[in-house]
Amino acid sequence: MKTKYNIPQGELPLYLSQDRLREKQAAIKAGAKVAEYRSVTNKKELENALNELGYPAVLKTCSGGYDGKGQIVIQSYEQMNEACELVKTTPCVLERFINFDMEISIVVTRGMRKGKGTTTFPVTQNIHRNNILYMSIAPAPINKNLQNKVETLAKKITRRMGISGTLAFEFFVKGNELIFNEMAPRPHNSGHYTIEGCETSQFEQHIRAITGMPLGKTDLLQPAIMVNYLGQHVEGIAQMKKMKLPNTFIHDYGKAKALKDRKMGHVTFIEYEKNILENIIKRYW
Ligand SMILES: Nc1ncnc2c1ncn2[C@@H]1O[C@H](COP(=O)(O)OP(=O)(O)OP(=O)(O)O)[C@@H](O)[C@H]1O
Ligand SMILES: [Mg+2]
Repeated sequence: MKTKYNIPQGELPLYLSQDRLREKQAAIKAGAKVAEYRSVTNKKELENALNELGYPAVLKTCSGGYDGKGQIVIQSYEQMNEACELVKTTPCVLERFINFDMEISIVVTRGMRKGKGTTTFPVTQNIHRNNILYMSIAPAPINKNLQNKVETLAKKITRRMGISGTLAFEFFVKGNELIFNEMAPRPHNSGHYTIEGCETSQFEQHIRAITGMPLGKTDLLQPAIMVNYLGQHVEGIAQMKKMKLPNTFIHDYGKAKALKDRKMGHVTFIEYEKNILENIIKRYW
């Protein structure tokens, strides 16, 4: 795809992921399963879609949503007014609610030049709070079979979409099934653990890909857990910083205003036992 901007990997990844309908259609075409969905642009279409998909269902704006913004989980007809307000403002998609076992993601990098190959970083389990990514756990607690399945599918989608550079795929896991949720055409929040956790970080890998350099090794060096901190956590994190905890890496994004629910930074914990980490989180978050 031709671009007037200097985006080495082209506009295609952005074009596909900017619109949820376009993204889903491209994912299906590339061989992925998605949650059953309907395009919804008015009340009538919303009612029909709810009749077909049932409750609960997730209404999402086609574009502009992030961190659960522009999204309503519709539990019953009582939420019709609220849902209509959203549909009135912009085209939406209604998705069947997936009762997933786990949410996971994977970061894929496809080299720009022929023969430069494609790498995947270890799969993470992602835990959300209020629809905002809270924690990413690497490696995800999934068996080898499923891990291979995720890697193979993510590479296949990337190749079939003709995308280069770095991108992340989010999937719902239900039993042995992988359901494509969305993709992000860039290094991803769930891949921040790679900075300390992997031989090459997702950021370095992206630069390698778009400059035509050989891609780096993506092996996990040690188990890593990344926890995001939001505006309301900033003071606690400042306290934690003073403690100089070992194997704890605080990344402050330097944002001027600490607003509630605004991502202000993340902390990566390397090789921590679950109960110790739980205590740290209880104390400082
Ligand atoms: N169809 C669905 N069934 C069940 N849960 C869902 C569904 N769609 C979304 N969710 C939940 O809401 C979260 C946010 O949804 P989604 O990833 O589509 O939106 P987003 O706001 O673009 O997120 P991000 O912060 O990743 O940009 C998901 O990670 C998942 O926990
Ligand atoms: Mg998401």
